[in-house]
Amino acid sequence: MTAQLIDGKSIAATLDEKVAEETANFKKRVGRAPGLAAVLVGADPASEIYVRNKVRRTQKAGLESFEHRLSAETEEAELLALVDRLNKDEAVDGILVQLPLPSQIDSARVLNAISPEKDVDGFHPVNAGRLATGLQALVPCTPLGCLIMAERQFEKIDGVESVVVGRSNIVGKPMVQLLISRRATVTVVHSATADISAHTRRADLLVVAAGRPKLIGGDQIKPGGVVIDVGINRLDNGKIVGDVAFDEAKEVARAITPVPGGVGPMTIACLLVNTLTAACRRKGLADPACTPRIIATR
Ligand code: GUN
Repeated sequence: MTAQLIDGKSIAATLDEKVAEETANFKKRVGRAPGLAAVLVGADPASEIYVRNKVRRTQKAGLESFEHRLSAETEEAELLALVDRLNKDEAVDGILVQLPLPSQIDSARVLNAISPEKDVDGFHPVNAGRLATGLQALVPCTPLGCLIMAERQFEKIDGVESVVVGRSNIVGKPMVQLLISRRATVTVVHSATADISAHTRRADLLVVAAGRPKLIGGDQIKPGGVVIDVGINRLDNGKIVGDVAFDEAKEVARAITPVPGGVGPMTIACLLVNTLTAACRRKGLADPACTPRIIATR
């Protein structure tokens, strides 16, 4: 059997169109477009590509994009001063500080300085806490994109046996919270787990966010399972691969996300959704129809 490809690019394009429609409505009501400020410190090539794609998609959907590029030698105080200005800027609804930051800057301090209502990455502890306790939050974009793709694969995600590989603040932990909010049954495995395969082999939904090329082989996947591969790894030969050995996995799984073209495009779509959502909330408007409803943990 060859698995169905979960076409993140096409799902993201549909979501971008919805954002564009609702952005036009926002503009009519408020008199300006929702604004996203992207801050890039230094010239990490991968970050350059991410930010360029984010800016392009933001503008295409009709949102306002503000780009701030700082040198790799930027001191923490200077970055904090910029974040403070953006927090106070009425035209800015979302602030994204691209990670990783250079080593002289304490990332946690910078992320904590972003106003939670403009934190479209959902990395601020207030948003993490709100998500964990089932309150209205801005939700990290990558796991939100994974959830949207996963939900399309199951009639009901309630009780679905799910395994998350990785426990990062950016993907693994919020992924767990989102799945719990949907009442999935969730196991988290990571580098200290004694027998990762024993868990992954019983996953009807497997989300892999370990940052290790081809960590999960075909023999570690449940036949008929759904596989969401968050990894984006560049091999020495320049090829981009995920955390899952795709060629093997596609012969075992029922459905799988490709890399590239799976989770990546969905992350940016969710960033646009979050920016529009943040803009509506700041203006006291109802959440747009494209905002996923994250229900309280019960
Ligand atoms: N670096 C890698 N992924 C991300 C992301 O989702 N947001 C930000 N700000 N930086 C990143």
